[in-house]
Parts: sequence; C-alpha cells; structure tokens
Amino acid sequence: MSRLEADDLRWALQRRIEDVFVKLGEKFGDLTGRVETEIRPSVSFDDVGGLQQAKAQLRGFALALSDPDAYRAWGIAPPRGVLLYGPPGTGKSKLARALAASSSAIFYHVKLLNLTSKFGVNTGELLQEILRIAMTEKPAVLFLDEAEALSLEHLLPPPQAREASARLVASLCEKLDAVSPGARVLVVGSTSRTDAVDAELVAPGRLDHLVEVALPDAEAQREILTLIQARTERDAGRSLFDAIDYRKMLPVMGGMSGADISEIIRRALEAKVHRAAQGEPTGPVSTDDLLESIDAYKRVRGVVEKIRYGQYL
Ligand SMILES: Nc1ncnc2c1ncn2[C@@H]1O[C@H](COP(=O)(O)OP(=O)(O)OP(=O)(O)O)[C@@H](O)[C@H]1O
Ligand SMILES: [Mg+2]
Repeated sequence: MSRLEADDLRWALQRRIEDVFVKLGEKFGDLTGRVETEIRPSVSFDDVGGLQQAKAQLRGFALALSDPDAYRAWGIAPPRGVLLYGPPGTGKSKLARALAASSSAIFYHVKLLNLTSKFGVNTGELLQEILRIAMTEKPAVLFLDEAEALSLEHLLPPPQAREASARLVASLCEKLDAVSPGARVLVVGSTSRTDAVDAELVAPGRLDHLVEVALPDAEAQREILTLIQARTERDAGRSLFDAIDYRKMLPVMGGMSGADISEIIRRALEAKVHRAAQGEPTGPVSTDDLLESIDAYKRVRGVVEKIRYGQYL
C-alpha cells in the first residue's frame, strides 16, 4: 500500500470513528473533552524517560494487541487489562499512548473525571457503548484515565457514592468480562489514587496486570530533561540550551516528576520569550536560568498548596 493510500485509509477511519462518537454524543450529551480518539498517537516508548521496568512490561502487553496468538501458543489467554498507578505527572498517559502507537492501535482516551462529572451515575451505559465501539474499531487501547473518578467521591456524599459507584463499576465489569480474549482490545486504567480504585476493577481477568509508574530517580530525571530539551529544540528548529551542569541541577530536583521538569523548562523558555520581546539580550538557556526557574516554580507550588488548603481564603 502506498503512503497516500495509507493516509486515505487513516482519514476514512478517523471520520468513521468521529461520526460514531457524534451520534453517541447526540444520544447521551456532548463528549468533547471527555472522550478523545487518536488513530495513531505520535509518541514512542523512546520519548518516555526512565521507567525501564514499566516500559518493558508494557512492551510485553503490546503483544496482546499485535500478536494474541503468541499467548495461545503457551496455552493462555492474552491479558484484557492493565492498571498504571503512580504519582501525578509521572508519564502514565504518555506510556499508554506509546503502547497504542507501538502496536498500531487506535487510542481511545476516556477522561473519567470529566465524563463522570457530566454524566454522574449514568456513566455506566455510556462506558459500555464506548467499549463496544472500541471492540468494533480495533486494535484498540481503551485508556480509562483517572480511574479513581469511578468512585464518584467528587459528586456524592460517601454512602451514596459507594452505592452508585458499585453499580457503575459492575456495569463496566460486565462489559469487560464479555471482551473475548484475543479481541485485540486492551483496557488500560490509570490512577494516582489506588486507595480509591474499586477492587472489582482489578479482579482477575480485568485490569489485573499492575504497572507501577514511579517518580524518577536522578538518572531518570536527567534522561527526561534531555528528552524535553531535544523536543523543544526540534520544535524550534534551533539550539536553545547551553550544556547543562547536572551536578548543580540534580540536588535541587529531588522529588520532581516528569511533569514538573517539563514545567521548569517551559518557564525558563518563557522568560527568554519575554526578555526577547522587551529587546533585552538573551543567550541560550543556561544552568543558572534553569536553577532560577526551579526556584520560582517551587515558590508557585507553595502558593498553590496554600490555596488548596484554604490559607488564602
Ligand atoms: N517519564 C517521562 N518522560 C518524559 N516526559 C514525561 C515523563 N513523565 C512526565 N513527562 C511529561 O510530563 C507531562 C505529564 O505527563 P503525563 O500526562 O503522561 O503524566 P501522568 O502520569 O499521566 O499525569 P497525571 O497523573 O497528572 O494524569 C507530559 O508533558 C510529559 O511529556
Ligand atoms: Mg495523565
């Protein structure tokens, strides 16, 4: 197949899936920002820094999509589901996208916090429909992002939330159990709050393969920094950074996630944009610029925490 034919096919597929979701939206209510599909996510495992073990595990699960018979050859059914768990901003969404990309699967991104906030206790029926679509248009990674939102804690007082959530999870599990092994549909949940995930969801045959996505250690932080640097330079089409002195950087980066690192780099670049706009001299981003950015970012995080805990209210 030529490149053009492949593009045509992809485009037709995108249209078909969009039409299906528009119809679903007409029946249930607008799904914009709640469910998004990507035919071929443009992220690879090489774009994810650190997380060697999580990447290796997910590369294995990609077989469930690309070659389910590899499991049958050993007398077992391919996995149906995986749960990615770990602190916010550690690359869970990115990993899920990379998994879909590596096995040429369609990526269905279900944002459960937004979805349950709009559809509340009726989210179950909608989730069943979405799973049905994924089973029709596949191979598919059905990404249940913010799986803790199924607890409905953000919507209802505890006793009602527990009851409604149990019903919601039961209706999802009923559909999950019906996914035939080898269907080339992998359900990937993601959460930063394992305490709020219903045990039914991770029962055998469901999202029963657990993958930890931990905060990066110093080596992984360095890798993430380098990856993000390379990406921004590629996007800008020019070199933007001086050589970084990691001996100075790493000690002040303890506990920072990939999302934090991405943010300090963005802020350092933003400072350059503002200086340049005022006609001030700007060199490439230096270690000192990044240290300054880390300092400012930590102060901002401090204010955000105070707002969250009501100290400024
Ligand atoms: N290990 C990593 N390698 C490269 N980039 C990362 C990594 N971790 C996080 N990032 C960057 O940080 C940002 C957030 O990542 P992502 O959305 O994948 O995190 P998450 O774990 O899904 O977060 P949340 O729990 O808040 O949903 C993205 O811009 C991503 O590029
Ligand atoms: Mg995420």
